[in-house]
Amino acid sequence: MFFLTPVLAAVVCILIVWIFTNADRSMERRKEEPRARAEARPWVDEDLQDSTDLDQVEEDADESQESEENVEHIAFSHIRYPEKEMVKRSQEFYELLNKRRSLRFISNEQVPMEVIDNVIKTAGTAPSGAHTEPWTFVVVKDPDMKHKIRGVVEEEEEINYLKRMGHRWVTDLKKLRTNWIKEYLDTAPVLILIFKQVYGFAANGKRKVHHYNEISVSIACGILLAALQNAGLVTVTTTPLNCGPRLRLLLGRPANEKLLMLLPVGYPSKEATVPDLKRKRLDQIMVTV
Ligand SMILES: Cc1cc2nc3c(=O)[nH]c(=O)nc-3n(C[C@H](O)[C@H](O)[C@H](O)COP(=O)(O)O)c2cc1C
Repeated sequence: MFFLTPVLAAVVCILIVWIFTNADRSMERRKEEPRARAEARPWVDEDLQDSTDLDQVEEDADESQESEENVEHIAFSHIRYPEKEMVKRSQEFYELLNKRRSLRFISNEQVPMEVIDNVIKTAGTAPSGAHTEPWTFVVVKDPDMKHKIRGVVEEEEEINYLKRMGHRWVTDLKKLRTNWIKEYLDTAPVLILIFKQVYGFAANGKRKVHHYNEISVSIACGILLAALQNAGLVTVTTTPLNCGPRLRLLLGRPANEKLLMLLPVGYPSKEATVPDLKRKRLDQIMVTV
């Protein structure tokens, strides 16, 4: 009984040392895991922030934004159409935009770059929170870069479809017959990647808040879609899930920019089809009070 006590004490000591050593190792492993994950995918801290993280930026920017308050106000020039003309113009514009469809089959025929310049200038006329114009339109024509973009999008989209989206989402997409293969990223002569600038920089280098940046850039994207339709080009609105950070780094864009939308632009391919979707009637979307 008495000589059991030192043996027991030794066993207890060994056990304690073993428990501490293992706890240390598992702490080390836990520290390593995020690092390994970060290396596997180039997530950058700022890419994971949303607008709720920007309070600090707002504080930093206050001073520098005050200096930009003094803008001269000038007379507004307006063209007023007769009512008949207004009705005609609004009807024709509706008919033009009602023909817009999301095209997932785009030919490799080149498009005039002057048209691309014009549609982007048009998108840049969008209103923006406090006139911050928080958008960057990256136009990709280079076939190698388009192919690299396709590689990133298909890799992430395959994971999206198989793992991230869930049964309901995948079922909702069935009618569109979409999957993670995005041939149009190679065939379309132009890809436009629209980045929202979550903050900008004042003349003194300080961060400048971009109020409502996502809404502002979304409006610009809507205008861009209308301008493309007006010019006779086609596209499909895409928001490649989880591709933003990788595409941002691939295109060498700074950390204050986050990918909002990717538009492949061109002419429809000869064999292009679209799902026969119906749009809601006016009485289903408008309420008059
Ligand atoms: C915010 C947003 C994200 C979209 N993302 C995708 C997408 O990732 N892939 C795709 O093929 N279509 C995408 N679409 C296109 C829609 O599927 C399409 O607009 C809808 O089915 C209606 O068809 P229509 O554009 O021909 O009227 C997206 C549309 C919007 C507005």
